[in-house]
Amino acid sequence: MPQPFAARVALLRPFLAMEILERALAMERAGARVIHLEVGEPDFPPPAAAVAACAAALAAGETHYTDSRGLAELREAIAADHARRFGVSVDPERVIVTSGTSPALLLVFSLLVGPGDEVILAAPHYPCYPNAIRVCGGVPVAVPTRAEDGWCIDVDAVRRARTPRTRAIVVSSPANPTGAIQSRATLAALAELGLPLVSDEIYDGLVYDGARVTSALEVSPEAYVLDGFSKRYAMTGFRLGYAIVPEPALRPLQVMQQNLFISANHFVQRAGLAALREGGPTVRAMCAAYARRRELLVDGLRALGFGVPTPPQGAFYVFADARAFGRDSLALALELLERAQVGTTPGIDFGAEGEGFLRFCYAASDDALREALARLAAVLPTLGSSRRQPAAQGGEAAAQRGEAERRHVEPAGEAAAQRGEAERRHVEPAGEAAAQRGEAERRHVEPSER
Ligand SMILES: Cc1ncc(COP(=O)(O)O)c(C=O)c1O
Repeated sequence: MPQPFAARVALLRPFLAMEILERALAMERAGARVIHLEVGEPDFPPPAAAVAACAAALAAGETHYTDSRGLAELREAIAADHARRFGVSVDPERVIVTSGTSPALLLVFSLLVGPGDEVILAAPHYPCYPNAIRVCGGVPVAVPTRAEDGWCIDVDAVRRARTPRTRAIVVSSPANPTGAIQSRATLAALAELGLPLVSDEIYDGLVYDGARVTSALEVSPEAYVLDGFSKRYAMTGFRLGYAIVPEPALRPLQVMQQNLFISANHFVQRAGLAALREGGPTVRAMCAAYARRRELLVDGLRALGFGVPTPPQGAFYVFADARAFGRDSLALALELLERAQVGTTPGIDFGAEGEGFLRFCYAASDDALREALARLAAVLPTLGSSRRQPAAQGGEAAAQRGEAERRHVEPAGEAAAQRGEAERRHVEPAGEAAAQRGEAERRHVEPSER
């Protein structure tokens, strides 16, 4: 019987990094030994002080709801930390603590974006941005960036993509999947466009070759900063993040937080506080290891025939041009998972602009990276023939790709047409929603028995 799900559900696309991970886990349950380079998950433990503070808080009975905006001490420490890293002064009153950066993202888009509103984002982009925008009824508008330009945002292209319906510009620096850091000049020019900047700064602190990240708050006091403890402090499972928002936004966000999430975990907030106070050496040690691994992976991938014109400046991903091995990134990622037992994320996950690329995460041990490169070296030369022959696999992948490209973030210019469609979809009867849902389901990674 068809389920009466809301139409917005059908607009969401699967997060392919998670789909590949889930498939890899199924393979491991069947005895495979997969090297996981697909998910953005640090392999380091969190700072010991964070674990100890969390355990102590639990033992002390800090197991309750807190102020929906977060513990006052933590908000103060977050404001001080941001001020220390970027030299801007932040009123702790403008900080709202959330259960990860993801809820902060959803809260901010819920605040800024209504049905048919547009949000500009550089592509390739973190896959959850367009989905969060769509959940709010909005239309993500992609402005392409290119490897050859160091994935730099073209401010003129953003200007051309702007319409009266544009509500915000999303910036991610250092970026997932490209590792690119946007210059201060670029951020300042974006701020001059007069639209709110939503700046995801979750990878700050994980930067290489002396690179420096500019916070959006350095160029726009009205910016929305999204950040969290998952990456910098290797605290993914703690689920702790925050937003720093303009003063008028705090009250509506507080009301949303009260209603949707109540508060972040009490004892986890203590872990966050300890990480900020004592986690610095852990972050620096992890960053030194990532720098070494980045080199190992970039050199290794280049030697295998992947294109990496500019090494990533930050985060812990190499977004490698894989077109030498065929253009279909999903088919390639699936094949490498099955035949080399190496998990990678297909570039199509990050928008149509990412097609032909694979994302490799180097938050894995040096040994794991070496072993992955050796396995790829053994399998890649055999792909050509096997990829030409079975029509079934190529056919399915091509169909998925076509569908993925059709369903992807709308290129600038088509946004108006899409907006009409989005608005129609928003109020559209179940028939269309069912068709959309069917399409979303078809995009799921096929079962490994295939
Ligand atoms: C750019 C970016 N923003 C946000 C997130 C989500 O982080 P969190 O674990 O804090 O929800 C991720 C996770 O991969 C990310 O890559």
